[in-house]
Amino acid sequence: MTEEKPVVLVTRKLPAAVEARLARDYAPRLNPNDTLYSSEALIAAAEGAAAIVPCHTEHFSADVIARLPQETRIIANFSVGYDHVDTEAAKARGIVVTNTPDVLSDATAEIAMLLMLGAARRAGEGERLVRSAGWRDWSPAFMVGSQVTGKRLGIVGMGRVGQVVARRARGFDMEIHYHNRSRLDPALEAGRTYYERVEDLLPNCDILSLNCPATPETRNLLNAERIALLPDGAIVVNTARGALVDDAALIAALRSGKLAAAGLDVYNGEPDIHPDYRTLENAFLLPHIGSATRETRDAMGFRALDNLDAFFAGREPGDRVA
Ligand code: DGY
Repeated sequence: MTEEKPVVLVTRKLPAAVEARLARDYAPRLNPNDTLYSSEALIAAAEGAAAIVPCHTEHFSADVIARLPQETRIIANFSVGYDHVDTEAAKARGIVVTNTPDVLSDATAEIAMLLMLGAARRAGEGERLVRSAGWRDWSPAFMVGSQVTGKRLGIVGMGRVGQVVARRARGFDMEIHYHNRSRLDPALEAGRTYYERVEDLLPNCDILSLNCPATPETRNLLNAERIALLPDGAIVVNTARGALVDDAALIAALRSGKLAAAGLDVYNGEPDIHPDYRTLENAFLLPHIGSATRETRDAMGFRALDNLDAFFAGREPGDRVA
């Protein structure tokens, strides 16, 4: 007699190769229409599921976790960020939580570079001008931005993504300064300048890239007081989480000219972002596509499944975060 395959609730439509592997090894409940679950619908859909494979679009608050069925034993996230899961509540219920680190570092660092360049060189404004048939002329004063080459890049969060951003930025001869919870080993630090306090990093950044996870400690990390510490005309780039930024403070600094520009891929409350961002010519905006490449989305799915496989084989999942 063959053993029954564990039921896995998959909250969003995943790449075909990932869903094929799920169907081979598990009894997946897929979401072919990619409909966003409400918390109530999520709890109902989880009935009888031993595992859930969610994205950051589903929120596992303490209340949702308390109401998950008794059978649910693992939340294997299709994401590196897991701020959408109350890990303490999961631990208290004995639910294992995993994420998908490493596999999206290159893709996310590409978007960080795109945001830096787009913000510094006014790419959004330029694109809007061409599309709206508003481009009339060329002159030496036309659409002048700032160069990123040779500038000082400050990175907050020198984890996997931050380190790739630093390496890519070296291709633009940028000087790398960073703040991290702990200083990197000399081999990894590779001559970059470390600041124990984020406040000491900020005055040394022509461009600031946020690459740390959203936690209660990093919420609103970039607030009005810290923005004031950046040099006038600095640029801010965020590919991590919207929660790191105090929107009102960033918008005020973009309006006043304290900051030259911002490049954002992530937002508080996304996709219902602070409406003022849409009105700012100097905000270069993308819709949370840091990991959106075919290669990376496959790799994220396979990594989530590796964690499930380990769990159901009685091994410790490689990417356990709770
Ligand atoms: C991640 O993996 O955390 C990305 O932001 C997509 O969820």
